[in-house]
Amino acid sequence: MQLEGKVAIITGAATNIGRETALLFAREGARVVVADLNEDDAQNTVVEIEDANGEARFVRTDVSEAEDMRALMEAAADELGGIDVIVNNAGAQRSGAVTDFDESEWDLLMRVNPRSCFLGAKYGVPYLRERGGGSIVNVSSLAGLKGGPGMTAYSASKGAIIAFTRALAAELASDNIRANCVCPGWVDTPFNEPAIEFMGGRENQETMVQQVVPLGRQGTPEEIAPGILYLASDASSYMTGQELIIDGGVL
Ligand SMILES: NC(=O)c1ccc[n+]([C@@H]2O[C@H](COP(=O)([O-])OP(=O)(O)OC[C@H]3O[C@@H](n4cnc5c(N)ncnc54)[C@H](O)[C@@H]3O)[C@@H](O)[C@H]2O)c1
Repeated sequence: MQLEGKVAIITGAATNIGRETALLFAREGARVVVADLNEDDAQNTVVEIEDANGEARFVRTDVSEAEDMRALMEAAADELGGIDVIVNNAGAQRSGAVTDFDESEWDLLMRVNPRSCFLGAKYGVPYLRERGGGSIVNVSSLAGLKGGPGMTAYSASKGAIIAFTRALAAELASDNIRANCVCPGWVDTPFNEPAIEFMGGRENQETMVQQVVPLGRQGTPEEIAPGILYLASDASSYMTGQELIIDGGVL
């Protein structure tokens, strides 16, 4: 029960990595706020937690909108008595050659990926301070540390999360608030469809994975969630400003 008595907000917890993290956090004793735009799947995450005797709430949130993020933090604190952990996991992926890449897609990635982490900190930190400290876990990516064809915008957006988190950790350490990133490598979820299309299909992606991933396969959401738990919990109490890379050995 590594999160007993804690309140944790997890954005993008409707599906895959965020969903697994929400289920794991609830099993570890946290009361969980599921924040997502995908209402049906987010409600399913809540029901799954409740069926296992956990406690969870859904707050419909567009993480790229300041007013939604402000309201999310307020609702979590009002309904559950405070906030201890914020996992900024919601994300968007687009792939394409830099010369063909649309400015609107670049802006979308910047809004959904790093801007949401900024908003999560801006509106969440006052509540963490009220509790005397807390942990922020931002879900970046291997792509934030290592480039690849078709990934310029996505890599820039995820690299920005890493730089943001390092500065945030320095700024908040005296408040007993830690901030770290998790950087997953290739995880087999529909999230990667734009990248797979850019590579020319699933077979090409599988060949690439065989070549570049020492463990020879993609990861699963169940293999990422424990890393997020580690950074959220007191098990990592002397760790801040770091990237935890879970990538099958690529980097
Ligand atoms: N799958 C991978 O290979 C991989 C690798 C590295 C990092 N990641 C990161 O992990 C995170 C989760 O990815 P996943 O594979 O579970 O994909 P996913 O598509 O299942 O999860 C993304 C979630 O974010 C939500 N979301 C998207 N835009 C949103 C918005 N504006 N407001 C609120 N919610 C929004 C989606 O509804 C979804 O529930 C992302 O940040 C992604 O960048 C994934």
